[in-house]
Amino acid sequence: MKVYIHTWGCQMNVLDSEVIRGEFAAQGVDAAAAVEDADIIVFNTCSVREHAENKVLSRLGALKELKARRPDVTVVIAGCMAQRLGGELLRRYPQLDLVVGTRRIGEFVDLVREARAAGRAVHVEEDRESYPRRDSRFRASRAQAFVSVMRGCDNFCAYCIVPFVRGRQASRPADEVIDEVKALSDDGVVEVTLLGQNATAYGRDRGETGALARLLEGVSGVAGIEWIRFVTSHPRDTGDDVFRAMRELPKLCPYMHLPAQSGSDRILKAMGRGYTRREYLDRIGRLHKIAGDVSVAGDFIVGFPGETEDDFEDSAGLIRAVGYKNSFIFKYSPREGTAAARLSDDVPLAEKKRRNNALLAVQEEVSLAHNSGFVGRRVEVLVEGASKKGGKLSGRTAGDEIVIFQGPPGIEGRFIEVEITGASAVNLFGRLAG
Ligand code: 5AD
Ligand code: SF4
Repeated sequence: MKVYIHTWGCQMNVLDSEVIRGEFAAQGVDAAAAVEDADIIVFNTCSVREHAENKVLSRLGALKELKARRPDVTVVIAGCMAQRLGGELLRRYPQLDLVVGTRRIGEFVDLVREARAAGRAVHVEEDRESYPRRDSRFRASRAQAFVSVMRGCDNFCAYCIVPFVRGRQASRPADEVIDEVKALSDDGVVEVTLLGQNATAYGRDRGETGALARLLEGVSGVAGIEWIRFVTSHPRDTGDDVFRAMRELPKLCPYMHLPAQSGSDRILKAMGRGYTRREYLDRIGRLHKIAGDVSVAGDFIVGFPGETEDDFEDSAGLIRAVGYKNSFIFKYSPREGTAAARLSDDVPLAEKKRRNNALLAVQEEVSLAHNSGFVGRRVEVLVEGASKKGGKLSGRTAGDEIVIFQGPPGIEGRFIEVEITGASAVNLFGRLAG
């Protein structure tokens, strides 16, 4: 038996797919390189924007013919779309056999086996068991790994489907997280990225405060782990304690993903983000005051209901003021059931596209300025692998800047020193130092 898994969406989904892959492997089911070679096809899906869902649906549409030829193949939709649409997917797509929601990952193989024996099914109820333990052997990279610290989100930002598809926030106990990090370290991992939809609120569901900073300290104590990151942060929940951890824990990378979403107070209020532009900039100021040079990445949404040209200019201004290393910029997409879906989606698509491109152009300038600051410096780099364009290697700095350089084969997963000789908006370029 062979399983083909395709993943859309965020890092949580990437990790869930690794967990699923590990569960199959434990049952002797190998990975298939293409749908044609698979007995089980799993699409692990994202609902964050309509575009993400459409991509899945077109892939699913293409399986109709394969399923007609090979009715023994089991087609599974997992993840956020599964959770959001449930039985509707089975009704609309006869080629689909099984729908598994975001909180049933720990039983995945059993649910597939059951469906192969007993027929089509939907499983989107919440489970009661704890977070599935991953098999530390299955991950995309030998040296780097994601570790889940929580599931779900309680923020209910007006635009966001996540609380509906991932459920309420549920933090994983710190000792469980640390045990998993130890197991990964024993298996050769040197960099861990702690994942939570709202990592800065870690522990709040158990009535704890300051829990993320304590967890980071705990993870720092794991021998063999050299670099630690965490994503993602909500500006309202990000306090000085996390910034102090960044100053005091040498393993904690000087990198933060701290999405603002908008630079306009009016829009921030309508989004329900819980901070003003001023307060956001104050947080960034505290970050640099306490932790020094930290690379900050952002997210922005353009074309939120009611966004005027002035509001948009406020976002552009914020990008310049913060000096983000990079930003992810998205066109607003109404999601059924969210608070913003009740507002009129009044920025025309062409205008959303224009604002998206304009903001990307601003960010490109800012990224180039950020990266240019590295030229002439020596940086420590964790080597990740071959770069996309021929013959070179690619790695990352502690601040998450991507470095392209010439180097010998076989140094993947190692820390090396690179002298930076050039920069573009997306990359640093350099040569091995010393
Ligand atoms: N439309 C557009 N972008 C969205 N995001 C979340 N929900 C939406 C939506 N409805 C963006 C936010 C978030 C990122 C993961 O996706 O910027 O930080
Ligand atoms: Fe997409 Fe959000 Fe689900 Fe991640 S949690 S897969 S971003 S909808």
